[in-house]
Amino acid sequence: MSIAPDTFAFVADLVARRSAIRLEPGKEYLVESRLAPIARERQVSLDEYVRRLRAGAPDDELAGVVEAMTTNETSWFRDVAPFAALTPHVLPLLRAAGATDRVRVWSAACSTGQEPYSIVMALADAPLPVEVVATDLNEQVLARAREGQYSQLEVNRGLPAAVLVRHFERVGAHWRVRADLRGRVQFRRHNLMDAAPPGPFDLVFLRNVLIYFDLPTKRAVLDRVARVLRPGGFVVLGAAETTLGVHDGFERVEAGGAVLHRPLTAPRPPVSAVPSVPAPVVRVPMPRGLPPASPPHLTALRPFSAPARPAPARPLPQSRGVS
Ligand SMILES: C[S@@+](CC[C@H](N)C(=O)[O-])C[C@H]1O[C@@H](n2cnc3c(N)ncnc32)[C@H](O)[C@@H]1O
Repeated sequence: MSIAPDTFAFVADLVARRSAIRLEPGKEYLVESRLAPIARERQVSLDEYVRRLRAGAPDDELAGVVEAMTTNETSWFRDVAPFAALTPHVLPLLRAAGATDRVRVWSAACSTGQEPYSIVMALADAPLPVEVVATDLNEQVLARAREGQYSQLEVNRGLPAAVLVRHFERVGAHWRVRADLRGRVQFRRHNLMDAAPPGPFDLVFLRNVLIYFDLPTKRAVLDRVARVLRPGGFVVLGAAETTLGVHDGFERVEAGGAVLHRPLTAPRPPVSAVPSVPAPVVRVPMPRGLPPASPPHLTALRPFSAPARPAPARPLPQSRGVS
């Protein structure tokens, strides 16, 4: 069965107006697979369901359709480098630029919470308090993120065993992020088409969401993000994303294998002038039945499901202050 052209046109227009997500012709299968369960619940065909929406529907029904069309794919420490670089490389740059009392991060488009929780876990031993504001358009994923509870299958996606043991507690067959860490993340609904949440932020994680927008929207979102960044702060994009050809107001900065984007107007200390610090060593006792702890340095992040090779014995790095 294929949906009627006017069904697709209505949904694509609704989704574009409310979220800026573009559904190009050829994405009919996506509309069909995401909205068929909603239509089935109401015991009508998808075309009939959309006909009723067009005749007039309450706002929350329309919002539900838009939410169903969002793609919420995510994982822990996604692409590793942006998280592994935080404490040893990015934090010294932020401190040199003036972040001396605390670090504020905005995880825009946070989906079910893996990204903001990965940030607080990666910065768990930072010498400054860390606050994360995590936002998404989709209320359903935000509710899951606030709960902070994940299935075994979900924790298998990118979470090293040592991090699991340190920062989660078991709840039946699930794992829940410990309360102290949950307390460092504030979840709020926010549409990237609207003004940004009140800044300033030292870092904005804007990962794997611009890909859904057209060029003018990408540019407008990056403009809004640049305005809430503290001077010397960075935007962190997804591994396949870039500001090149999208917005010429950013420069690319590499820090410990992570690619960061810094607004050009900000005062910028040269990256080479700022020393990196060794990442803190985290030693946690491993319960029986779990694979051996992955090496503590987050650059060696290994997913929970992957068999870990024993780390070679090495002395603890001395922690160095950053002046
Ligand atoms: C693919 S997920 C990315 C999650 C996470 N940033 C990561 O990289 O793993 C994209 C998220 O963007 C959200 N999203 C899509 N359009 C949005 C908009 N206009 N405003 C805010 N969030 C939006 C979706 O709800 C979804 O959770």
